[in-house]
Amino acid sequence: MERPHRGTQLELEIDNLAFGGQGVSRVDGLVVFVAGGVPGDRVRAVVTKAKRRYAEARLESILRPSPDRIGAACRHYGSCGGCRWQSLAYPTQLKYKERQVRESLERLGGLTDFEVRPVIGMEEPWRYRNKVEFSIGPGPEGPLVGFHPPGRWDQVLPMTECHLISPEAETVRTRVEQWIRKTGRPGWDPRSQTGYFRHLTVREGRATNELLISLATAPGELPPGLPEALLPEFPKMVGILHASNAGQAEVATALPHRVLHGRSFLFEELGGLRFKVSIDAFFQTNTEMAETLYARAAEEAGLTGHEVVWDLYSGIGSIALYLARRARAVLGIEVVGPAVEDARDNARLNGIGNATFLEGNARVVLKEVLEGRAALPPGLEKPDVVVLDPPRGGLAKKVIMRAAAARPARIVYVSCNPATMADNLKDFAEHGYRLVRVTPVDMFPHTPHIEAVGLLEPTS
Ligand SMILES: C[S@@+](CC[C@H](N)C(=O)[O-])C[C@H]1O[C@@H](n2cnc3c(N)ncnc32)[C@H](O)[C@@H]1O
Repeated sequence: MERPHRGTQLELEIDNLAFGGQGVSRVDGLVVFVAGGVPGDRVRAVVTKAKRRYAEARLESILRPSPDRIGAACRHYGSCGGCRWQSLAYPTQLKYKERQVRESLERLGGLTDFEVRPVIGMEEPWRYRNKVEFSIGPGPEGPLVGFHPPGRWDQVLPMTECHLISPEAETVRTRVEQWIRKTGRPGWDPRSQTGYFRHLTVREGRATNELLISLATAPGELPPGLPEALLPEFPKMVGILHASNAGQAEVATALPHRVLHGRSFLFEELGGLRFKVSIDAFFQTNTEMAETLYARAAEEAGLTGHEVVWDLYSGIGSIALYLARRARAVLGIEVVGPAVEDARDNARLNGIGNATFLEGNARVVLKEVLEGRAALPPGLEKPDVVVLDPPRGGLAKKVIMRAAAARPARIVYVSCNPATMADNLKDFAEHGYRLVRVTPVDMFPHTPHIEAVGLLEPTS
């Protein structure tokens, strides 16, 4: 076959899913990625990018649907940038996620001789998100509060539903959009850097039945009346915040804010503990599966009540405090100041006296701890178990080196990105730790994302 170029029309059999979630087809040794293609589909697609080793193609029509293809639940499927896997039956999504974890560790990490436990999925894989961030942009009938179309950071889609959030969060979105339109102020246009309303964040305490929202705008006083418009319908709204974004970046967090009503945090309950979660602090977005994840991490930590545990990247202290009840003492390290304050408050709130939290970059704080320069209760400087739960970018090499230098009997690696996990575990192998087993946990149904809990032990 002649090499395809931009604009070539192809008929393709989709036979796999790539790590990012696109369908994969092979034509005469060339890999073609087709967004929206499902393994088992025969599709017609048009090449949009042609490189030497691979091509990307846009799905034009499905000539023969895969038996795993199902009707998407949401009317915005395809036009909205979220939940790309809605057209794939949930058991099939899980199968591919498990495979993705295994293949990342084998191919990217070069790891062998480890066990992959069956992926743990959700029983009811909808409306699981306890936090949502909407963008606000200009629309034909006034500002729109919603999500971006795929690849279009400068546009916001008109929206009526989202099946990943609660019906109540959907209604909050509608009411805020209605209120915004009444103010007569414009939505933000990121291209021209003009407009006023920029983002809406809605957080929920699933177990506590609390709602917290933050409306981010360009600088300038918010028109009056937002609390009055929302509180009669949502008496469980414990906080309404106005955040001010003077910058160009499309961010909704870590902005200066003013409390218009109530407080700037909510409470959530998980694993028998109560957590204070500030508006900007990281908290697992799927409360139900966070319990499963933490239970799995606790099992791998193998605690008997006598151990010292380090929890690096501890956020508001959720894993640290979950484990503290079964350990002698716990040390959490976290870079975001308000999250560390939350973690300390959470220890008090739950009557947990054996947890210490240090604020700072894990790389730097670990060095201080290893060199005996950190102010710590006695015994905490030598861990039996180290838990690592880094952001998607994974661990810095020096964190790996320092965690290994502390010589814990077990390292529990909680990852939201199998690719960086694989890379990090390759480095751990060089520092004398091998992966014993890994359990994929599906925190993000209908998206290609997957969480995994790995257990590492010393090789000698
Ligand atoms: C995936 S979250 C995990 C939080 C917590 N373990 C949980 O389950 O809720 C990663 C955390 O690492 C923090 N973080 C990011 N970079 C860091 C660094 N260099 N040093 C310490 N903490 C960092 C983030 O603020 C975030 O709270």
